[in-house]
Amino acid sequence: MSLSHLRLRFLSILLLYGVVVVFTSSFLMIKALECSPDQIEALLQFKNEFESEGCNRRDYLNGVRCDNSTGLVTKIQLPSGCFTGILKPNSSLFEFHHLRYLNLSHNNFTSSSLPLEFSNLKNLEVLSLASSSFTGLVPSSFSNLISLTHLNLSHNDLTGSFPLVRNLTKLSILDLSSNQFSGTIPSDLLPSLPFLTHLNLKQNHLTGSIEVPNSSSSSRLVLLSLGNNQFEGEILKPISNLINLKNLDLSSLNISYPLDLRLFSSLKSLLLLDVSKNRILPASLSSDSYIPLSLESLVLKYGDIIEFPSILKTLKNLQHIDVSNNIIQGKVPEWFWKLPRLSIANLVNNSFTGFEGSSEVLLKSSVQILDFAYNSMTGAFPIPPLKIVYLSAWNNSFTGNIPLEICNRSSLVVLDLSYNNFTGTIPPCLNNLKIVNLRKNSLEGSIPDEFSRGALTQTLDVGFNRLTGKLPRSLLNCSFLRFLSVDNNRIEDTFPFWLKALPNLRVFTLRSNRFFGHLSTPDQGPLAFPELRILELSDNNFTGSLPPSYFLNWKASSLKINEDGPIYMGDYKNAYYSYEDTLDLQYKGLFMEQGKVLTSYSTIDFSRNKLEGQIPESIGLLKELIALNLSNNAFTGHIPLSLANVTELESLDLSRNQLSGNIPRELGSLSFLAYVSVAHNQLKGEIPQGPQFSGQAESSFEGNVGLCGLPLQGSCFAPPIQQPKEEDEDEEEEQVLSWKAVVIGYGPGLLFGLVLAHVIASYNLKWFVKIVGSDKRKEENQVEMFMSLDSRWDSFNNMHSVEQESDMKI
Ligand SMILES: *[C@@H]1O[C@H](CO)[C@@H](O)[C@H](O)[C@H]1NC(C)=O
Ligand SMILES: *[C@@H]1O[C@H](CO)[C@@H](O)[C@H](O)[C@H]1NC(C)=O
Ligand SMILES: *[C@@H]1O[C@H](CO)[C@@H](O)[C@H](O)[C@H]1NC(C)=O
Ligand SMILES: *[C@@H]1O[C@H](CO)[C@@H](O)[C@H](O)[C@H]1NC(C)=O
Ligand SMILES: *[C@@H]1O[C@H](CO)[C@@H](O)[C@H](O)[C@H]1NC(C)=O
Ligand SMILES: *[C@@H]1O[C@H](CO)[C@@H](O)[C@H](O)[C@H]1NC(C)=O
Ligand SMILES: *[C@@H]1O[C@H](CO)[C@@H](O)[C@H](O)[C@H]1NC(C)=O
Ligand SMILES: *[C@@H]1O[C@H](CO)[C@@H](O)[C@H](O)[C@H]1NC(C)=O
Ligand SMILES: *[C@@H]1O[C@H](CO)[C@@H](O)[C@H](O)[C@H]1NC(C)=O
Ligand SMILES: *[C@@H]1O[C@H](CO)[C@@H](O)[C@H](O)[C@H]1NC(C)=O
Ligand SMILES: *[C@@H]1O[C@H](CO)[C@@H](O)[C@H](O)[C@H]1NC(C)=O
Ligand SMILES: *[C@@H]1O[C@H](CO)[C@@H](O)[C@H](O)[C@H]1NC(C)=O
Repeated sequence: MSLSHLRLRFLSILLLYGVVVVFTSSFLMIKALECSPDQIEALLQFKNEFESEGCNRRDYLNGVRCDNSTGLVTKIQLPSGCFTGILKPNSSLFEFHHLRYLNLSHNNFTSSSLPLEFSNLKNLEVLSLASSSFTGLVPSSFSNLISLTHLNLSHNDLTGSFPLVRNLTKLSILDLSSNQFSGTIPSDLLPSLPFLTHLNLKQNHLTGSIEVPNSSSSSRLVLLSLGNNQFEGEILKPISNLINLKNLDLSSLNISYPLDLRLFSSLKSLLLLDVSKNRILPASLSSDSYIPLSLESLVLKYGDIIEFPSILKTLKNLQHIDVSNNIIQGKVPEWFWKLPRLSIANLVNNSFTGFEGSSEVLLKSSVQILDFAYNSMTGAFPIPPLKIVYLSAWNNSFTGNIPLEICNRSSLVVLDLSYNNFTGTIPPCLNNLKIVNLRKNSLEGSIPDEFSRGALTQTLDVGFNRLTGKLPRSLLNCSFLRFLSVDNNRIEDTFPFWLKALPNLRVFTLRSNRFFGHLSTPDQGPLAFPELRILELSDNNFTGSLPPSYFLNWKASSLKINEDGPIYMGDYKNAYYSYEDTLDLQYKGLFMEQGKVLTSYSTIDFSRNKLEGQIPESIGLLKELIALNLSNNAFTGHIPLSLANVTELESLDLSRNQLSGNIPRELGSLSFLAYVSVAHNQLKGEIPQGPQFSGQAESSFEGNVGLCGLPLQGSCFAPPIQQPKEEDEDEEEEQVLSWKAVVIGYGPGLLFGLVLAHVIASYNLKWFVKIVGSDKRKEENQVEMFMSLDSRWDSFNNMHSVEQESDMKI
C-alpha cells in the first residue's frame, strides 16, 4: 500500500479567532422598524444592486438596525450568501454615513476591489468583509475609519503591502488572514494600536519580523497568529515580550535554524501554542527545559522531532497534544498517560513501536481522543482508557485479539483498528459504537449477531478478514447504518434483501465473498433499497436473471457538489474530530484503495458472478449512476438503449458476457464516458463514433468479431480486419494504481479530465479540536464537552458559531 493511498489523520486547532465582541451600545436594542422610510428605500436599492436570490427581503432587513431617534441606519449585518455581484464605488451603501456596524462577510462580491468610498463611513466601529471575494489593494482611505474597533478582511484575495492601520487607534481586533498581503509588518503597528487584543495575519506572504515595544506589559495582545507566512527567526524574540498572550500560532515560519521554545518562557498566560511545520530545537523539548506551564494545547505536528518530548511531563494543564507527522521513535513513555488533564492526544504518523509499561498503562489515563494510527506498533493491544471516546490505531502491526474491554467503554464512539494483524473474533459489542472499522486484519468467525434495538452503528467495515458464516440478521436493528462493508471475506449467504428495511443504507459492498443465489425476489419486483448509492456484489456466486423492472424505484437522489464544496459520504464531523468513510473504488478499469467517496457518486458493480438473461431496461432510470460494471457474467440480449439516458455515466464495463446486436449509436452522446469496455461479447456493427468511444483502447472492443470502426483498425465499409491477437493477456488482473497517478500518466486529456471531480483527497480523517481558553472557562469544561459529544455530534456546521464571549472592555 503506497503512502498516497493512506488515510492521514491529523489534529488541527481551531484557534479562538471567533471571538465575539459584546457591544453594549444602544443599537442592539433598536429594531429595523425604527428605520425611516427613506432609509428602508435606500436599503432596498442597495439590495437591488446585486443578485440576491440567496436571501429574501425579510432576512435582509432583519439584519438591519436604525437609530431610534433619527431613523438612520446604524447596522447592516448581511446574511451569508445573500449578495452576488460587484460592489461599485457609487453603491448606495456609501450613503449610510451613520453606519457603525457593517458585516458583508460570506457574500460574493465577485472580485470587486474595495472602493475608496468605504472611508465615507466614518462612524464604523465594526467592519467585516471576510470571505467575500474581494481582490486588489486595500485603499489608503481605510485609515480614515478611525472609530474602528473590529476590522476583519480575512479570506479574500487582497494584495499589496500591509494595510495602513496606524491611525485606527481604537482597533481591538484585526484579522487580515488568508489573503495575499506581502512585505513587512509596519514597525509601529503595535505601538500605534494600544488596544489591540487579536492580531491574525496567518496565511499571507508577509516577511521580516514584528516589533514589540519594550514596555511589553502595556500590550493587550491575547491572540497572535503569524503562521504560514515567510517570517524570519528574528520574529521570535520580540514575541517573548507579549506577556499577555494566550494564543500563539507560529506554524510554518521561514527560519533556517531550529526554533527554541524556551524563548516563550515569559508568556505565563499562554494556553495554546502552535509551532507546527517548524524545526524545533531538541533541547527545548527536554524535561529540564522551561516553557509556559499554563499551556493547555501544544501543536508540534509536521516537525522533525525524533524523541518523545519529555517537556510534556511538566505541563500539568496540558489537555491537547499533537505530535503527529514527526519521526519520533521508540515507545510512548508511561508518564505521558499520567498527565492529569490530558484529553486529546494525536500521535499519528511517527515511528512509535509501542507503549512503555504494562498492558494497563492506558487504563487510568484521562485521554478521550487518542489516535496513534500509522506507526509501527507491534504486539498486543493495550487495554483502552476508561473514558475513551475515539480510539484509532489504524495502520500498525498489532497482533492478538481485540481487547474485550472495549465492550465496557460506554463513552466509546469511534473504533478504528483497521490495517493491523488482529486475530480472533470480533467482540460481540459493537452496538453502541457509531463507527467500527476493522478492515484488513485476520479476524475469524462470523460477524456477531448481537446488534440490539437502538443500535447506533452507522459505519461497519470488516472487509479483508477471514470472516465466515452469514450476515447477522440483527443488523436490521441498526437503523442508522449507512455504510456496510463486508468485502473480501468468506461469508456464505444469500442476497440480504432484508437490508432494504434499513432507511439510511447508502453504501453496501459484499465484494469477493461466497454469496450465492438469486438477486431478484421471486415476485420479480424491483430491488429498491431506499437510499442505496453504491452496491458492489462483484466476485460472488450470484445466479439467475434480473427482471426488466429491477432498477425501478431506486432512489438515486441528485446530491451534487454543492456550493460549500464536495460532500463526502460518511462525513462524520463534530467539533472535535471528523471521520470520513472510505471505500476501495473500482472504476474506469482501475482500482483505488480506500478513497473518499462523494455523495454524488453512485455505482453498481455486479461483475464476476453468474448472472444471465437481459440487462434490465430500467437501468436507464439511474440517471445519477457514474459507474456500471456487469462484466464477467452471462448476460445475453442487446445492450439496452436506455443506457443512453444515464447521462452521468463515466465508466461502463459490459465485457465478457454474451451480448449481441449493435452498440446503440445513442451511447455516443454520453459525454462524461471516460471508460468503456464491451470486449468479449458477440457484438457487431459500427462502434458509435465520437471522442468517447474512438478514444478508447482497442482492447475495449476486442473479442467481438463483428465490430468495426474506430478505434478498431479498418473502417466499416471494408471487410473488417480480423484481429489476430490472442486472448493471452489476463485482462482480469486488477491494475492497482492510484487514480491520480493515472491522470498524470495519461496526461490531462479529455477522457480523464473529469476524474478528479469524483476523487478523492489523499487523507480521510480530520480532527477538529476546540480548546476552551477564556478566563471564564470552568474546570470541568473539557470533560463536559466530551460528555455532551453525542448530542452535539451533528453540530459541526455551527463550528464558527461556537464562539466565546470575551470579557474585553471596548
Ligand atoms: C473573521 O471572519 C472570518 C470569516 O467569517 C472568521 O472565521 C473569523 O473568525 C473572523 N475573525 C475574527 C477575529 O472574528
Ligand atoms: C431608544 O431605545 C433605547 C433602548 O430601547 C431607549 O432607552 C431610548 O429611550 C430610545 N430613545 C428614543 C428617542 O426613543
Ligand atoms: C458577520 O456575518 C457572518 C455571517 O455572514 C457571521 O458568521 C459573523 O459572525 C459576523 N461577524 C461579525 C463581527 O458580526
Ligand atoms: C453606478 O455607476 C454605473 C456606471 O459605472 C452606472 O451604470 C450605475 O447606474 C450607477 N449606479 C448608481 C446607483 O448610481
Ligand atoms: C462568485 O460569483 C462568481 C460569478 O457568479 C462565480 O464565478 C464564483 O465562483 C463565485 N465565487 C464564490 C466563492 O462563490
Ligand atoms: C493619520 O492621522 C494623521 C493626523 O491625524 C494624518 O496626518 C495622517 O495623514 C494620517 N495617516 C494616514 C495614513 O491616514
Ligand atoms: C528595548 O530595550 C533594549 C535594551 O534593553 C534596546 O536595545 C532596544 O533598542 C529597545 N527596543 C525598543 C523598540 O525600544
Ligand atoms: C524563506 O524565504 C526566502 C525568501 O523569501 C525563500 O527564498 C525561502 O525559500 C524561504 N524558505 C522557507 C523555508 O520558506
Ligand atoms: C508522515 O509525515 C511525513 C512528514 O513527517 C510526511 O511527509 C508524510 O507524508 C506523512 N505520511 C502520511 C501517510 O501522511
Ligand atoms: C501480518 O502478519 C503477516 C504474517 O503473519 C505479515 O506478513 C504482514 O506483513 C503483517 N501485516 C501487518 C499489517 O503487520
Ligand atoms: C461458487 O460455487 C461453486 C460451486 O457451486 C464453487 O465451486 C465455487 O467455489 C463458488 N465460488 C465462490 C467464489 O464462492
Ligand atoms: C429516456 O428518458 C426519456 C425521458 O426521461 C424517456 O422519454 C425515454 O423513453 C428514455 N429512453 C429510453 C430508451 O429509455
